[in-house]
Amino acid sequence: METITLAIAKGRTAERTMELLNSIDIHFRDFHEQSRKLIFYNPDRSIKLLFVKAVDVPTYVEKGAADIGIAGKDNILESRADVYEMLDLNIGKCQFVIAGKSGGQLETQQNLTIASKYPNLTKKHFSKKGMDVDTVKLNGSVELAPLIGLADYIADIVETGTTLKENGLSVIEKVEDISTRLIVNKASFATKSAETQQVIQQIETAVR
Ligand code: PRP
Repeated sequence: METITLAIAKGRTAERTMELLNSIDIHFRDFHEQSRKLIFYNPDRSIKLLFVKAVDVPTYVEKGAADIGIAGKDNILESRADVYEMLDLNIGKCQFVIAGKSGGQLETQQNLTIASKYPNLTKKHFSKKGMDVDTVKLNGSVELAPLIGLADYIADIVETGTTLKENGLSVIEKVEDISTRLIVNKASFATKSAETQQVIQQIETAVR
């Protein structure tokens, strides 16, 4: 059997992802989230784990550096990676929304500036509404942008709503339901068919 390379995301879904893998007896003995190590193997070395930034998981899979990835739908859509999306793992559930100052409505007349970690997804959403918006790409603390005049609105992920609330912002439009998905490299799906199918089926069983 060939080794399967699996890329998983650091950050808020890492613990749930690892619990899911452990539940189907896929263990990485020396893995822990604070480790500075980035590559881990299961005991029989049939699976190699890459522990990477969430936003990069689709790229690793598209380029074939990983055969399988566990990635947020937000990052899959933003990357526009050409991969197979096989399963919804039902973890990391949240929503991609447009938000602004509380009580505000989306101003459709003026030329809007939207701050986001997801400029592609943002542009796509507004172009479906027939609106051409300017985007400001930020890598975090996006909620700050409308408060200091850097943008009119933000396009971001909301999970509990706490960050919006604590910064005096509220949801203006819900755009998309987001959750963690299992994605597969297209070539690996053909050339390592037995190995990838085995891992996918195990994970599917655990999810069900
Ligand atoms: C994400 C997102 C929001 C926040 C939403 O940021 O960009 O800022 O979580 O979560 P909530 O609705 O539960 O408050 P993250 O925590 O990844 O930090 P970041 O600002 O550094 O990107």
